[in-house]
Amino acid sequence: MKIIWDTLLSRFVEAGAGGALSFTRGVFGRLLSVQQQNPAPPALPAPPKVPESPLFWMPNAASEYSPHVDALFNFLLWVSAISIIGVAAAMIYFCVKYRATSREANEAAESQVDHSNTLEVTWSVIPLFLVIGVFVAGFKQYVDLRTPPRSAYEVHATGQRWKWGFEYPEGLSHPELHVPLGRNVRIMIQSVDVLHALYIPEFRVKMDAVPGRYTELWFKPTKEGTFPIYCAEYCGTSHSDMLTRVVVHTPEGFQAWVAEEIKKIEAMPLVDLGLLTFNQSGCSTCHSTDGSQKVGPTFKGLFGRQEKITSLGTLNVDENYIRESILEPQSKIVEGFPPSMPTFKGQLSDRRISGLIEYIKTIK
Ligand code: CUA
Repeated sequence: MKIIWDTLLSRFVEAGAGGALSFTRGVFGRLLSVQQQNPAPPALPAPPKVPESPLFWMPNAASEYSPHVDALFNFLLWVSAISIIGVAAAMIYFCVKYRATSREANEAAESQVDHSNTLEVTWSVIPLFLVIGVFVAGFKQYVDLRTPPRSAYEVHATGQRWKWGFEYPEGLSHPELHVPLGRNVRIMIQSVDVLHALYIPEFRVKMDAVPGRYTELWFKPTKEGTFPIYCAEYCGTSHSDMLTRVVVHTPEGFQAWVAEEIKKIEAMPLVDLGLLTFNQSGCSTCHSTDGSQKVGPTFKGLFGRQEKITSLGTLNVDENYIRESILEPQSKIVEGFPPSMPTFKGQLSDRRISGLIEYIKTIK
């Protein structure tokens, strides 16, 4: 401790006046260079820019359903705007017109007319028709939204702290939602831990992922492109990182994507498969590869490390320990970390687990 203090002190003295900046720069520079030496693993390809929305209030309208929601929203917005301007204008007008000019004028006899049938009927009937209209339009849209068409392309979505996963009928699982343009898509949603909500603003759809039951939503994409997917239900520490994207392909492009993905996974060397799994299965949400502290222990230098296990003592991290930690994460918790990792039993093939182990070995 004393040595560190002395070094720091001498650095400050050496630097003298005006040198504090360069000292800080030096410290940060060193931190930066450490990070550069251990770059994070190449994550999924950077998401293409979300196309600029031509709409003023709303993100792009990219599904068949979107314009209906927008129309209703705009209708309500303008009716409210016109109403508030009307009410405020009448109020100001009356304030000016009926203001007290003198004490005598104020005490003068007033008209005995206490209401106007025409006026009252008008201001009751017009809003009545407006709200009935809003109800009919809203109810129709709600029923549409809750009734997926029968011949839809079905994708399973799973929410898990803190990632989304999608499973396709072709036997493919992927952290992104890929869908063909112009086809009805139905998403079956489930959660393996807590409440999440699958939210795709550009499609104007959102649905909770509830542990222990299926929920669903559907849409028909009308625009090619890449749009963000959010989790819209607070689900813990990394809730705001629970992001992915939906990619809308042309029908031919979609077929090509599926074929390409299947080919990629079959042919992959173990280490690459491990890196892919690391990114796809959400490992990176809790485990860093650069030594920094996250929810779980860092993978940097993990293989061969002596770890202190809560109430069990020290063990050497080897292939079997890593495998056990993936399949039964609660059995041996490293001291100082919360027992919050979900099991991946039944989710990862043996080949993927071996891949992860080989990948972890490479992070020195
Ligand atoms: Cu998952 Cu918030």
